[in-house]
Amino acid sequence: MSETNNIDAIMKLARVIAVLVIKEAAYARPIAEALVAGGLRALEVTLRTPVALDAIREMAKVEGAVVGAGTVLNERDLEASLEAGAQFIVSPGLTKPLGKAAIASGIPFLPGIATAADIMRGLDMGLSRFKFFPAMAAGGIPALKALAAPFHRCRFCPTGGISQPTFRDWLALDEVPCVGGSWLVPPGRPDAVAITTTARAIAGPSVSGPVAGLSLAGTGRI
Ligand code: 3PG
Repeated sequence: MSETNNIDAIMKLARVIAVLVIKEAAYARPIAEALVAGGLRALEVTLRTPVALDAIREMAKVEGAVVGAGTVLNERDLEASLEAGAQFIVSPGLTKPLGKAAIASGIPFLPGIATAADIMRGLDMGLSRFKFFPAMAAGGIPALKALAAPFHRCRFCPTGGISQPTFRDWLALDEVPCVGGSWLVPPGRPDAVAITTTARAIAGPSVSGPVAGLSLAGTGRI
């Protein structure tokens, strides 16, 4: 199977991808600094707020941060994310137009799946790394185990409803190199100390230094 991008490098960066909903551009940098200080380098800024693209630009300035765009729904979102310097792309689902465009761009791409048919569509496109979303609502660990069985070459980043008490249960699955979650950064003015403390508690052994194949300072394109 041709793996079309190095999303594996992103998935190995840390056990948890921080899913971020940034409401104030001024919060972006302190949040990124606090997470990276705690050992969590994979930062997914969801395109759900007007300042999301500015937040990506700000966070990309933080040494050690690998900043991606989440909630990428279509080619327009993809283009905007690339222009903002996103280094990876996460989508809640997988459509053919978005899949084709993301693969053509070369950016590490983690599309959402929730069914066997979703996975098969991804495999047809040469993809084998997926976000399992919404992880809890779609059936939790039993559902992912059942889904993963026929697709043993695939790897999954469960996201949606995962929390501090439950993330380790997911990571115990062979098919799960990392999980995603927004619980690390509560809404409102960021408490940098609290964020770093939480990050440190969950980061585990993370990869330091440059990520193979990724330009940390550039556009994020490979
Ligand atoms: C996402 O966008 O990936 C999810 O909304 C994150 O889910 P969570 O807020 O339950 O962690």
